[in-house]
Order: sequence, then structure tokens, then C-alpha cells
Amino acid sequence: MTKRPRLHFAARRGWINDPNGLVHHEGRWHLFFQHNPHGDHWADMSWGHAVSKDLVTWDERPVAIRQDLDLDGDPVEYVFSGSAVVDGGDLVAIYTSVSLPSTPERPGLQTQHLARSADGGETWVKDDHNPVLDRGSSDFRDPKVIRDGQRWLMAAVEAVDRKVVLYASDDLRHWHLLSEFGDPSLDAGPWECPDLFPLRVEGSDRERWVLLVSVLLGAPGGGSGMRYWVGDFDGTTFTPERSDWLDLGRDCYAAVTWNGAPDGRRVMIGWLDNWDYAHVTPSSGWRGAMTLPRDLSLVDTDSGPVLRQTVSPELADCDHLDVVVRPGEPLSLHGGALTISYEDAAGELVVERAGSEFSEKFAATSRVALPAPDGGARMQVWVDTCSVEVFADDGRLVLTFLVFPH
Ligand code: FRU
Repeated sequence: MTKRPRLHFAARRGWINDPNGLVHHEGRWHLFFQHNPHGDHWADMSWGHAVSKDLVTWDERPVAIRQDLDLDGDPVEYVFSGSAVVDGGDLVAIYTSVSLPSTPERPGLQTQHLARSADGGETWVKDDHNPVLDRGSSDFRDPKVIRDGQRWLMAAVEAVDRKVVLYASDDLRHWHLLSEFGDPSLDAGPWECPDLFPLRVEGSDRERWVLLVSVLLGAPGGGSGMRYWVGDFDGTTFTPERSDWLDLGRDCYAAVTWNGAPDGRRVMIGWLDNWDYAHVTPSSGWRGAMTLPRDLSLVDTDSGPVLRQTVSPELADCDHLDVVVRPGEPLSLHGGALTISYEDAAGELVVERAGSEFSEKFAATSRVALPAPDGGARMQVWVDTCSVEVFADDGRLVLTFLVFPH
């Protein structure tokens, strides 16, 4: 059975998926997450909680936001993904409540709710005004709220319509619609977990806005993956200038960024998994882990700024490889379960992951164009008990893979 990761966050027990409520507050990085506290499969969605002072070691705290129950003690909702902000010294979580079929009114409805914590995320009180945002939709979820000048700005999705919907509020309780964003070129599956934020272009004082979206189907390697757009936000409308895949591996999903990170940093963490096989990965008692935390920046290219991801500097002293992969000299990891090679003729980096017994969708080959001026491809490779993360081209090409060696 799979050994627990050393560097990556996983829950002590139970299932996890998306990171939620990422907020840095009073010197601590809060990581809430989609969690089934009762089992190692997706069910009973609640918010788990962990905190870290250094992004390296995580202290798992009691379950933070639990499902509402009816008088018989049966759950009437799922607590889906969302975000957290600091308001008046308290932590405020903004999350999606999904009414379960057992609820008499409007089963399946997805609405946005608030909960407040005055003790650093240990205990939470749900807001009397819930839901604070209701579109009468069964696919309206994953609110990400940031501070934008004097107001709160929310990005959420109409998942099945593949739209990001932007809202603004002065008090977190009353919201008005600003605009909607879609991209007809992405027509495969529902959109989830958006994140919209400004980011500085390295070596300049220019700022662009970046929009992250997770797409449930149609990622380059198959299954779920992430897309990003770089563009302009005029306070009402987001106008994209360019777009690309965020990660060319198969296992970075639902990644979002921390609010309130120190020194103007933009730090992202994702779920190290793919909905293609997340339910059947070979672990028991616990299931699911997060990616490594990554600092984001924008770097200029001829075709406009692109996203750069580097493992957060707090992890610099942890074990990793700084390597040049040369043609004919593949790097074999996890006993050959994953190999990284460079093909000179095509000018491509090739990452191959062997198949598995638990899912026919697990075998993977990623090929990415990568110039190799020194006769090989320089990269940083982070290997953990069940994963490999590759940062090539100075962080402009990132590939994240789960690996379960025999
Ligand atoms: C993304 C997602 C979200 C939803 C959550 C449910 O992985 O499907 O859209 O809020 O997971 O666990």
C-alpha cells in the first residue's frame, strides 16, 4: 500500500480533494480542504483544516466546517469548495452549500454561504443570512473571494455552462453581478474552482490579471486539468490576452492561491490528482494529497507574459534534483514507474508513466516542446513517495504526476 508522502500534505485519515479557504493570517498558512472525515472515498463533504508556519510541516486541526444536519442527525448539505478572507480580525469562509436530495426544498441547489471564526479557524459559526448568494442554479459553485481596493471581489463558476461569474460586495453578504467570462475554445467539460488575481510581470512594474480555471474533462493528458488566462480586468470585465494549460502532467487540479500571503507573494497549491482515477488510487485509510506549494509570477515572452511556477522558497532545503536530461540518457524514477527523457530530433521533453492495475486510464505520456541549448533539458525534479513534479524551462513548463511504484 502506498506510503504517506513526506513533503506533500495528506490528511491523517479520510479522503481529501480540493484545497479550500487558503489564507495567511497571523503568521500561519491555513489550508482547508474538501474532506470526508468518515472514510477514504468521496462522500460527506466538509472542510478539513491544517496550518503551517513554514509551508513544509503541517499541523492537522479538527474538522472546520461540518455539514448541517436535520433533526434526525442526517446531513442536509455538502460543504463544497470555497475561499477564506480576513474581515475585522476574524476568518470568514465563503463556501458552496449543496442541498442534498433529502432536503425538501430545491434538492441539488448550489448556493454560497458564509461562516466566521474568531479563533484562527478552530471553531466556526455559520451566518444567519445564508445563503448570501443564490442564482437558483444546481451548478453554481467554488467562490474565490479577494480584497479588491475597497470592496470584495468574487469569482465563481456556472460549472456546466463553462462560465466564470464575477460578483462584488461591500460586506460579504450582499453581492452584485459584474460580468461573466467564457471561452468557446474549451468545450469538453464543466469548469470548476476559478481564481482571479493581479500578478506583477517579473522585472517590470507592470501588472496583469490572471484567471485560473479547472476543467473536469479535456486536459492535454486526459481527464481533468487546469487552464489559465493572462489579461486585463477593468473592475467589471476580464479581457483575456493569452491562455494556456497550467500543468502538462496529469495530476494538478483545483489549484488556487492564498489570500494575504506576505511580501506580495502569490502562492498556489493544488490537489495532486485527476478525477479520472482519484477514487481508485491504491491507498487505504487516507486518500489524496496536495501538490507542493508554488510561487507564481509572470515572465515576458514574444507572445506576451506567461505563468512561471517555482516551488516555494521555504522548501529550498528539502530533497530535490537539479538535473540536465540529455538525449539518450533518460532519468528513471520510482523503479522505472516514471521516466523523463529528452528527444533531440523533435526537441521534446517526454515524460512517461507506466500503467497500473487500478485504472486503465493511469498510463500517461506527456510530450512538450522544449529548447535545449546546452544539449539537454535543465529541470528541477521533486520526488516524493507517490509523486513526481517536474519544473522545466525555468518554471514555465510544469508537469505533475502521481506515481505508485510496485
Ligand atoms: C472540484 C470539485 C468542485 C467541488 C468539489 C466537491 O474538484 O468538483 O467543483 O466544489 O470538487 O468536492
